[in-house]
Amino acid sequence: MPKLAIIYSTKTGNTEKVANSILSVNEDAKYIDASDFKESDLDDITHVIIGFWIKAGKVNPEARKVIEKIKNKKVGVFMTLSSDPETENSKKVLNNSLELIENGNNEILESFVCQGRLNNKFLIAISKLNKSLRDINDDEMIDSAESSKEHPNKEDLEEAKKIFKNFIDR
Ligand SMILES: Cc1cc2nc3c(=O)[nH]c(=O)nc-3n(C[C@H](O)[C@H](O)[C@H](O)COP(=O)(O)O)c2cc1C
Repeated sequence: MPKLAIIYSTKTGNTEKVANSILSVNEDAKYIDASDFKESDLDDITHVIIGFWIKAGKVNPEARKVIEKIKNKKVGVFMTLSSDPETENSKKVLNNSLELIENGNNEILESFVCQGRLNNKFLIAISKLNKSLRDINDDEMIDSAESSKEHPNKEDLEEAKKIFKNFIDR
C-alpha cells in the first residue's frame, strides 16, 4: 500500500505554512516536524514530501540529516528561501539540494521553490556586517528582503496544493 510522509524543517514558520497547505490536499499523510524525526518514521513509507528552508546557500543542517536517511522513495521536494526563485543562485541551490536527495537512490517526482520572508532580526544582523565579511548569499538576501516580505502568500500556498495534490497516486 502506498503511504506518504510529509516532513518539514522550519525556523521562522514559512516552510511550515507551505507544509500545512500540502497536508490539506494529502490528509492521510504522516506529518512530521524534522526536529522530531526518527529513522523508523520511514518504515512503512513509499512516498515522501520533504520541505526545508535554505541557510547560507544550503539545505539547513537539520533537514540534511533527515535527507540522509531517505532512501529508495518517491520524493517531492519544496524549499523556501528569501531570494527570488527565478534567480540563478536559487536555481543552483535547488539543483544542489536535489542532488543530495538523489544520492539516496530516490526518484524525485516534483519540486517547488517558494520565496519566504526573511526574519527581521537576521536581516539587521547581516546588514550590519562589514561588506568584506559578506558572501554572495548575504548580498542577495539583503536585496531580496523587501520582495520576500509577503511570502509565502496565498498564491504560493495554492501553487503548492496544485503541485502536490494527490501525490500518493503518482
Ligand atoms: C540564518 C539564516 C540564513 C539564511 N540564508 C539564506 C540564504 O543563503 N539564501 C536565501 O535566499 N535565504 C536565506 N535565508 C532566508 C530563509 O531561507 C527564508 O526566510 C526561509 O523562508 C525561512 O524558512 P522558515 O520560516 O521555515 O524557517 C536565511 C535565513 C536565516 C535565518
